[in-house]
Amino acid sequence: MAEQKNQSKASVLFVCLGNICRSPTAHGVFETMVNQAGLSDIVDVDSCGTGDWHIGHAPDQRSAKAALARGYDLNHLRARQVCLQDFFRFTIILAMDNINLDDLRAMCPADFTGELALFLSYAKDSNLDEVPDPYYGGEGGFDTVIDLVESASEQLLKSLRERIEVDK
Ligand code: 4NP
Repeated sequence: MAEQKNQSKASVLFVCLGNICRSPTAHGVFETMVNQAGLSDIVDVDSCGTGDWHIGHAPDQRSAKAALARGYDLNHLRARQVCLQDFFRFTIILAMDNINLDDLRAMCPADFTGELALFLSYAKDSNLDEVPDPYYGGEGGFDTVIDLVESASEQLLKSLRERIEVDK
């Protein structure tokens, strides 16, 4: 049976294709910000991929290295594939690109009442809608991912704080 949503908590799931580059970066960065804000008891954070190629794998070494250089440790994370139960566990599901979003929409139950959106919809200062996939590109792509993820995460956290305040 599907787990029930805990309405008093926020739960955020970051989704990309492989769950070894972009979404674990978002997971690690946002989780760090949530911990630093003292909100880890009321904000759950996770990540997954739409694909199954990297299930059980640690984040890509290039992502892990770029993240560590900016103070985010991704080494505890392991890739998993999105599943139907995620729509019952998470109230906010954020896709890294439009293909991820389309794949999520295709499997989203009709009675899902949470938010399903592009992560960069939170990055009001960015011209980009999508977090570019760095997997087949150069090292610079991994730093770009962190820049975008940090900016969107700060604004997501601000939005969550406001919602938590309203729910009190
Ligand atoms: P991610 O990047 O979706 O940001 O984790 C990718 C990782 C692996 C592959 C593609 C993108 N792949 O084709 O294996």
